[in-house]
Amino acid sequence: MTTYPVYSPIRNHAEELAKAEAGVDQLDLERVDRWYPKFHIASNGGWINDPNGLCRYKGRWHVYYQLHPYGTQWGPMHWGHVSSADMVSWRRDPIAMAPSLEEDKDGVFSGSAVVDDQGKLRFYYTGHRWNNGRNDADGQWQVQMLADAIDDDAIKLEKRGMVIDCPREKVDSHFRDPKVWKQDGVWHLIHGVSTADHRGQIWDYTSKDMVNWTFQNVLFDDPNPDVFMLECPDFFPLKDKNGDTKWVIVFSAMGSKAKGYMNRNENNAGYMIGTWKPGEAFKPETEFRLLDCGANYYAPQSFEADGRRIMYGWMSPFSENAPMQSDGWCGQMTLPRECYLGEDDDLHTVPVPEIDKLRINTFEHVARPIEANEETLIDEDAEAVEIELNIDLKDTTAERAGLKVHATPDGSCTYVAYDAQAATVVVDRLAAARGDRGYRAARLTDEELSADELKLRVYVDRGSVEVYVNDGRHVLSSYSYPSEGKRAVKLSAESGVLAVNKLTLHDMKSIGLE
Ligand code: FRU
Repeated sequence: MTTYPVYSPIRNHAEELAKAEAGVDQLDLERVDRWYPKFHIASNGGWINDPNGLCRYKGRWHVYYQLHPYGTQWGPMHWGHVSSADMVSWRRDPIAMAPSLEEDKDGVFSGSAVVDDQGKLRFYYTGHRWNNGRNDADGQWQVQMLADAIDDDAIKLEKRGMVIDCPREKVDSHFRDPKVWKQDGVWHLIHGVSTADHRGQIWDYTSKDMVNWTFQNVLFDDPNPDVFMLECPDFFPLKDKNGDTKWVIVFSAMGSKAKGYMNRNENNAGYMIGTWKPGEAFKPETEFRLLDCGANYYAPQSFEADGRRIMYGWMSPFSENAPMQSDGWCGQMTLPRECYLGEDDDLHTVPVPEIDKLRINTFEHVARPIEANEETLIDEDAEAVEIELNIDLKDTTAERAGLKVHATPDGSCTYVAYDAQAATVVVDRLAAARGDRGYRAARLTDEELSADELKLRVYVDRGSVEVYVNDGRHVLSSYSYPSEGKRAVKLSAESGVLAVNKLTLHDMKSIGLE
């Protein structure tokens, strides 16, 4: 019988970390900042994907992330790290993990953080190996690993080794992304699996000592036959409006097909709400719903702190070559969002209130209507702003109306609009100078459509747009690459009047990672 953890170093970790730092520094030297975020987390150089190891520990907020330090495309995965005392201003910490063990030699893949009974911070992640040592042609061998923080700032992580091997005869290569929490005195670890017959599942293990894990049961078996893998599973309780506990299961599904407004991205991250008893499968009470309807959203992870359930997602570029890849960096996180169940019994996600502290100048505009087929300039040059726009639905007759952002002198822009005909809010990049030109839409409910107003909060960073509709009932996150020159904000109304209840602009300051 194997005794866990299995620890098999093949490279000097400290040396690998130093090489990775040098790799990022090199890219940082040549980085171009035209689309580099001011108030979103990104690496100072290189490629990033999923948020990892999210936690609040000994007074600091920590965001680790998947990092390829040697290029702006996906590659051998490391863990980058930033931290903050207040979620407003952030510090760049040293790269936390690099491939160095036999089990993680081709990648330190995604994972999560958890505080043990002694108050120590521990990390579970996936060790990744290509079967042929080079690429995916012959499949991959993925196992679950443990590492511990050894200082109060969680800067230095010590790898402990493998704690769960892969039963390879039951699995089609994909076996990854552990998430750990304690439930009724027992530790649970869940991760995503592609079964031997190519179905997406989430498996649940239990443990008393956080090292020896016993397979418990299949927590969730995706009914969608197109879905072959559930990446980055997450699972947490939330109280509903009656004070009853519901469980929310979150995963990033590979393989789903686009239908109508659903699943338009290459892979799609979403959730289901239901109930759960330890030892049993999750019982969904809803269908699969998207967490974010934008063109660039994937691999979210949540954590609990101060009684809040907070979630970061990765703004995945999906279709490469993404314009930022020629600028020395690629990828950013969404804003941190608090998750809660609304009066409508659905999941809402809103920026945490700390984000309001990034506002520096505030401009309240007189709420004047925009006449049919007119446009009005709101801000001549908005590099990093939050815009609050409340549309008066009773008096608006426009077919489509809203905000043109990143509007440059060459006529290109990204359009954030209320589409009255389609009953949606859209982020439309048809007029974008660069990058993907598709649009994405969030469908409004009958209740939202018959309300007096529609509330939009639009965060425009140097290379992205994040739109929160009706206090986080829907969100759309998309990259948007403005062309040269000043970046204006305009209000626009098509074929009818846009009536405005409120229009406020806030300049946003940097979170300190540029
Ligand atoms: C999701 C994902 C994870 C994996 C990581 C590798 O984007 O594919 O499943 O752990 O990224 O970088």
